[in-house]
Amino acid sequence: MPHQDLFEAAKSAMNNSHSPYSSFPVGAAIRATSGKIYAGCNIENASYPEGWCAETSAISHMIVGGDKEISEILVLSQKMEKITPCGGCRQRISEFAKANTSVHLCDADGVVETVTIGNLLPAGFELDGTK
Ligand code: THU
Repeated sequence: MPHQDLFEAAKSAMNNSHSPYSSFPVGAAIRATSGKIYAGCNIENASYPEGWCAETSAISHMIVGGDKEISEILVLSQKMEKITPCGGCRQRISEFAKANTSVHLCDADGVVETVTIGNLLPAGFELDGTK
C-alpha cells in the first residue's frame, strides 16, 4: 500500500492514544521534508478543553526532532470512515506546510482520500498582509 510507513506510524501512535473521555482514539503521522517520520496521538484531559489532537502531537514531535516542513501528513481513526483534521489543526498544519501539501485521510484499513491542506483551509490566517 502507498504510504504504508506513514499509516503504520499513525496506527501505532493511535494505539497509545489517551482518550478515555471520548473513546475516540486518533493517530497522525508526518513525513518531514528531511524524510523523517513523526507520529502523534490525541491526549485528553479530565478538564476537557485541555486535551489536544493527534495532529498537534505529531507537529510537536516534528519540531522537537528539528524539522520545520511537512512533506505529507496522514490522519487515522479506527472509528471513522474518513477522518479530517479539525479547524485548529488545519491552521497548525498550514504553519509548516505549503498549500499543495498532501493530507491523507484514512479509515482503519488505509488511505481513503488524499487532499491538500490548501483544499482544507483555503483562507487560513497569515501575517503576510500585516501593515
Ligand atoms: N481529534 C483529533 O485528535 N484529531 C482530529 O482531527 C479531530 C479530533 C480528537 C480530539 C478528541 O480527543 C477526540 O478526537 C474527539 O474529538
